[in-house]
Amino acid sequence: MQKWIMSGVFVVACALAIVLMFTLPGKEQVAEEQKPTMPAVELDATAAEATVKANCISCHGDQLQGSVGPNLQKIGSELTVDDIYKTITKGKGGMMPSFKDKLKDTEIANVAKWLSEKK
Ligand code: HEC
Repeated sequence: MQKWIMSGVFVVACALAIVLMFTLPGKEQVAEEQKPTMPAVELDATAAEATVKANCISCHGDQLQGSVGPNLQKIGSELTVDDIYKTITKGKGGMMPSFKDKLKDTEIANVAKWLSEKK
């Protein structure tokens, strides 16, 4: 009788473990949330330049030569497009603002792509 109960408990525990395995967010999923994934976009250089002119040159300079923010003229050889996307989306340090609520994902992706080609 007691053996029967024990195996019943064991089966329930196993079932619970399996359910938890599938419902708890995996490590990868957590990492994904911290590092937003960039939507795929076709590069539109004209639009990127306009976005940068309107949002970025006040700190990064009209030639991206840097002022308050760092020089971005060769940013593509320092950062990957994903890193640039993440920086623009989330901001950096206390000074680089987050553009998550100001620009569309695709606009940020377009600017990131444009900047990543600056090498
Ligand atoms: C209010 C000023 C300000 C504005 C506006 C601003 N930035 Fe920045 N940005 C900074 C500062 C300051 C840093 C350096 C942050 C640090 O390293 O702590 C920075 C860093 C960056 C970096 C990372 C550079 C590196 O070498 O790690 C990128 C990329 C960047 N900015 C892109 C942009 C883009 C694109 C825009 C416009 C959509 C923009 N920034 C608007 C101030 C600004």
